[in-house]
Amino acid sequence: MPNAYISGTGGYVPPRIVTNDDLRTQYGMDTTHEWIVQRTGIEQRHFAEEGICSADMGVHAAEKAIANAGLEKTDIDMIIFATLSPRHAFPGDGVYLQEKLGLCAAGRFIPALDIRNQCSGFVYGLATASSMVQSGQVKHVLLVGGETHSAALDLSTRGRTVSSLFGDGAGAVVVSPTEEDRGIRGWYLGADGRYADVLAQRVWNMSKRPYVPTREEDGVGEVAPEMLWANMDGKLVFKNAVERMIQCYMQACFDQKIDQSDIDLFLFHQANLRINQMVAQMLNIPEEKTIHNIQRYGNTTAATIPLLMAEAVETGRLKPGMKVACVAFGSGFTWGSAIIDW
Ligand code: UT7
Repeated sequence: MPNAYISGTGGYVPPRIVTNDDLRTQYGMDTTHEWIVQRTGIEQRHFAEEGICSADMGVHAAEKAIANAGLEKTDIDMIIFATLSPRHAFPGDGVYLQEKLGLCAAGRFIPALDIRNQCSGFVYGLATASSMVQSGQVKHVLLVGGETHSAALDLSTRGRTVSSLFGDGAGAVVVSPTEEDRGIRGWYLGADGRYADVLAQRVWNMSKRPYVPTREEDGVGEVAPEMLWANMDGKLVFKNAVERMIQCYMQACFDQKIDQSDIDLFLFHQANLRINQMVAQMLNIPEEKTIHNIQRYGNTTAATIPLLMAEAVETGRLKPGMKVACVAFGSGFTWGSAIIDW
């Protein structure tokens, strides 16, 4: 059985920067730069222009990752796309990415799989991609995490608790086989459906008729704000995130029979700088072993870890031979960790 390793990384954020002050001055949100920085560490985020979707940003990230892997697009044998903000309810963004990459035109009708695990979508995707590669059934898997949050944020004061946190972007990796003694050593995933409604966007409800609430009998009407926008119990998410990230990281170390001090670099999901600082503090992780970019991008959900990974490779912070831990937690609740020998 071959090992599965990350052969290429790439990241992309749309050009438009929205600062905390812009939320106030451009969108009329009653907030302050100080409040957002103090609670979350976020200073700015990037918003895509209308017309741009997660798959569009995913293409940019994917092209970089494929080039960095020294491959051609047609070398890719499978696509996995993790997002909570696909263009449509169905189909998922994986097939849109395939078409936008030109793979259909090239006759590469490879499988495209969509992952719906929100902030832990990338780690779930990494577990899936590495298992696929190790099975020998496929060679190179393109795993993309991409989000277009800006289209679905209530940027008024009513939505400030949620909408000040999120930004748009995409990150991609290529997972490939190797006979070398390196790669994705193991992963640990978990979920707790008791908390499914704690962080959710319930824009429709298939148990109801009609499944989208309407005002008029002819089906024309308005979706109520509590259905249209994401809802979150922030304090409950915060508390569970800290507990689960610690637990799933420790479990992955235990499974791999490694000591916590063996880890050279931590790539935490970028949901809130304070969550990650608390996790690091409770695990006695020295600051120099963690990196963050939430200050510049906000929470880009499935894209945070691959974006961070791509930047770490680009800046030379992540080098071959390093032992890396990826840890994520999010809506569902779902969580996951992965240990990688880079
Ligand atoms: O991947 C998972 C994604 N989600 C998360 O990671 C979220 C985890 N949770 C958090 O990060 C924090 O709970 C938040 C940063 C979201 C909120 O911080 P908090 O300390 O839990 O604040 P809160 O929700 O209890 O709100 C405190 C006050 C409220 O005002 P009142 O009711 O006390 O008058 C909010 O309306 O802060 C207000 N507030 C804001 N004020 C200025 C909420 N958002 C804002 C804002 N600007 N953007």
